[in-house]
Amino acid sequence: MNTTRDVVAIPGDGIGPEVMDATRQVLDAAGAPLTWHEHQAGVAALANGDPVLPDRTVDAIRECRVALKGPCTTPVGKGFSSVNVQLRKALDLYAAVRPVRSLAGVKTRFDNVDLVIIRENTEGLYSGVENVVTPGTVMSMKVATERACERISAWAFDYTRKRNRKGLTVFHKANIMKLTDGLFIRKSAEVAAENPDIPYNEVIIDAGCMRMVQDPSQFDVLLLENLYGDVVSDLCAGLVGGLGVVPGANIGEREAVFEAVHGSAPDIAGKDIANPLALIMSSVMMLNYLADQEGLDAMRTAADRIKQAYNACLESGKKTRDLGGMLSTTEFTAALIDTITAA
Ligand code: NAI
Repeated sequence: MNTTRDVVAIPGDGIGPEVMDATRQVLDAAGAPLTWHEHQAGVAALANGDPVLPDRTVDAIRECRVALKGPCTTPVGKGFSSVNVQLRKALDLYAAVRPVRSLAGVKTRFDNVDLVIIRENTEGLYSGVENVVTPGTVMSMKVATERACERISAWAFDYTRKRNRKGLTVFHKANIMKLTDGLFIRKSAEVAAENPDIPYNEVIIDAGCMRMVQDPSQFDVLLLENLYGDVVSDLCAGLVGGLGVVPGANIGEREAVFEAVHGSAPDIAGKDIANPLALIMSSVMMLNYLADQEGLDAMRTAADRIKQAYNACLESGKKTRDLGGMLSTTEFTAALIDTITAA
């Protein structure tokens, strides 16, 4: 195949540029036919005198329809609204998908975790609608719309069927948030009724979290509103070795942005110890998405090569420190590239 696919790269902040650099090297080694268009967001954009999410970054994603994004720092308490929230809203990337799986070679309490978290990405408590009611009293608005609740449910059931998953569970707190979470589960139940072949459950989120850490194998696909999805993603990451191994995708009708679940990890930035795997795994999701959407077989081939290589590395103990290994970011990346080229 001679042609390449244009994709946007947003290195981001903190460990973002390090893990993006590692990921692009690995994609190159695997022969992924991609042409990169690099754009900035987050503190890196501010440093150039731009807003945290420059229009040209959003325009470039609209143009290419696919982006790989590193984590972005949102300065706290300085009046900046989150880059991620802005980006998800600007492109209406309403479905966040986060597969959480046990990896051979990464020891945790469980060796059978195989979950997919589907998070509604556009509303809930993440709407960012906050105001001062009276001096000393502030309020944050939780938003739920019929349209968003229905489309994320439909998307989640569709995903569950296409991927041959075992069933779908909604985590909610509709016993307290009767209107907002009530609407979320009402719409989910309506879509469930149209998909009677897919086992469907509703679980109150606090009890669901307890059950999750006792035995994650009792769940399969999880559907959650925005904030619950954010929190439960990190909880589930803890079941499989941490944030260094959980990838993600933010998907809309037209565009898709692939990024790790983790943030910019300022505590380890610049130390060459970050685990690049979560972004590498996100890039594998991107390649498979391109293969599915556009029939690009070369993307699937590259994705398979990368997957086999990281499984082989982890199984032979080649891993970064967060997973109990000894390798730096650059050493692990080099080991991965060696494994790909030797295969
Ligand atoms: P974080 O995910 O950046 O870090 C949490 C902990 O996990 C830290 O101890 C960090 O060192 C560790 N960690 C994260 N990724 C790692 C990796 N790849 N390898 C090894 N260790 C890793 O979360 P935190 O500290 O809450 O957020 C830091 C910044 O990131 C904030 O400004 C936040 O707004 C931003 N953030 C951005 C996200 C995005 O752009 N998608 C997502 C989450 C947070």
